[in-house]
Amino acid sequence: MSGQITDAQDVSKQKNVVELNALTKEFQDLVAVNDVTLSVKDGEILTLLGPSGCGKTTTLRMIAGFETPTKGEIRLTGDDVSETPPYKRDTGMVFQRYALFQHMTVADNIAFGLKMQGTPDSEIDSRVSEMLEMVKLSGLQGRYPAELSGGQQQRVALARSLIIEPSVLLLDEPLANLDKKLREEMRMEFLRLHEELDVTMVYVTHNQEEALMISDRMAVMSDGNLHQVGTPEEIYLNPNDEFVADFIGQATFLSGSVTDAGSIYTIELQMGGVIEVARSSIESPDETEVGSDVNVLFRPEKFHIEKHTGADIGRNQFTGHVEESTYLGDTIEYYVRAGNERIQVNQQSLTQAREIDDGDEVLISFDEDTPLVLPSRGQ
Ligand SMILES: Nc1ncnc2c1ncn2[C@@H]1O[C@H](COP(=O)(O)OP(=O)(O)O)[C@@H](O)[C@H]1O
Ligand SMILES: [Mg+2]
Repeated sequence: MSGQITDAQDVSKQKNVVELNALTKEFQDLVAVNDVTLSVKDGEILTLLGPSGCGKTTTLRMIAGFETPTKGEIRLTGDDVSETPPYKRDTGMVFQRYALFQHMTVADNIAFGLKMQGTPDSEIDSRVSEMLEMVKLSGLQGRYPAELSGGQQQRVALARSLIIEPSVLLLDEPLANLDKKLREEMRMEFLRLHEELDVTMVYVTHNQEEALMISDRMAVMSDGNLHQVGTPEEIYLNPNDEFVADFIGQATFLSGSVTDAGSIYTIELQMGGVIEVARSSIESPDETEVGSDVNVLFRPEKFHIEKHTGADIGRNQFTGHVEESTYLGDTIEYYVRAGNERIQVNQQSLTQAREIDDGDEVLISFDEDTPLVLPSRGQ
């Protein structure tokens, strides 16, 4: 806990490279980005994460200057850039489609930004060689983009935007066009480059796993709205609302209402039964009192599952039967039918031999501090 507090203080001391203040973008009557306030600290990787159409690209394009905000303010390294054209904003951009110049060699593609800045040729040559080495493309400088693989093309795109040493690198789903294995490899490359160059990055993705892996902090969006900003751990362990909880990681939600609110909260579930939950598991204690409707979030790995032998059902236990199960190597995923609900349970498979089959009656149980109780938004 003390470690987290120190981190937060360190982060607050860092200067903001990007600041968005109440940023809104409307296209006719569509609100693509709605009142987003967000800052990106020097040297961090911040991901904008959310489903397709939630406003990620529009946000990024406003930072780069390709799109004009309807309302709100953008600051880059402290300066209001509302009137600054894209080429003067000191940002680099990498797109999903690499957008390389097809008629130029790798070296000329990478050198492009420096040429535009009027950098002397001798300096360009040495910086291009350095960059080629950095992105592991040494020896390929004479090739044309069409002669490269997708992964190599994306490395050229990265090198081309990094060579001008932008204050912030903006990346719009840069790995979305690559196959799974290459994508995983390239994620490691991003982290390595980030480590070596210390460049601030705003990284757009709709891929939760990718965001969890590469982010210092992530900003979760849907329908133009920013739901939560935090470290991957904060977001996973302490989602602000149901959208975030559902979008990041796997979850089962059970609705109910509070019947006692002391150091232990008791909740009567709609599916039947009463559970007891620690006060520390209540997301908004101020909003959650006796009579409140709540949604209880369970992460599948927090459940314990065993065959039901007919013993009495204790506190914080459910019975049900296995409808479906999937063996995933290190875990087994079970879907357990309990009343009207389908509950997902993940079990580490290496710890014990598989002994539960589809159709089996099972007993699932949880500790009182493992669920998260969210206020019900009245659905
Ligand atoms: N130039 C545009 N004109 C009209 N609507 C647009 C334009 N650009 C984006 N939109 C709409 O704005 C919303 C957000 O789009 P976008 O920022 O591209 O989302 P994302 O990148 O998260 O998939 C979508 O509904 C999209 O259709
Ligand atoms: Mg997009």
